[in-house]
Amino acid sequence: MHDMNEDIQRVLINETELDRITFRIAEEIDRDYAESEHLLLLCILKGSVVFMSELMRKLKKPVEIDFMRVSSYGAGTVSGKNINIILDIYRQDLDQCDVLIIEDIIDSGRTLSYLVDYLKLKGCKSVRTCTLLDKPERRVVDLQADYVGVEIPDEFVVGYGLDFAERYRTLPYIGILKPEMYK
Ligand code: IMP
Ligand code: MG
Repeated sequence: MHDMNEDIQRVLINETELDRITFRIAEEIDRDYAESEHLLLLCILKGSVVFMSELMRKLKKPVEIDFMRVSSYGAGTVSGKNINIILDIYRQDLDQCDVLIIEDIIDSGRTLSYLVDYLKLKGCKSVRTCTLLDKPERRVVDLQADYVGVEIPDEFVVGYGLDFAERYRTLPYIGILKPEMYK
């Protein structure tokens, strides 16, 4: 059996740290949305699925959850320019929803920036953004998330939901992938 851990150059964020980060963000959300009557956590598939599930279980506030899936077509470790909605959100009551987009990572910023505009156009009551990881050095679009787990250097990372070619999502930590795995 192939050991995925052997493809990792270095663990960047371990399980204890991830737990601390999600706990801190959950507290911030509970505090900031205390008056909200209808908070909707919108998980962006597939990379955010682990972060979302950890985060939602740490919230005290009752929330609803929903999912969208987008793809930005690019080659290998480079995210693309064109964003496509593969799974849309279908609800009639978005005008009553405070939507919090849950993302795994912000790289160029294109995906999240596109989603914010899209959801505002759909008439959501409010739209804010939450990302586990942020690579500020790589930003192409001017975008600052409302909630950020941790800023990371410009390295390609996998695990905790994040993939390379659909692999490594199940690793319980965030690790830097050995460059020879994608070169
Ligand atoms: P952006 O639109 O360039 O901000 O790209 C965001 C998307 O690119 C994320 O949702 C990920 O799917 C992917 N991505 C960017 N950097 C990484 C990385 O280091 N590891 C895994 N996926 C990444
Ligand atoms: Mg991805």
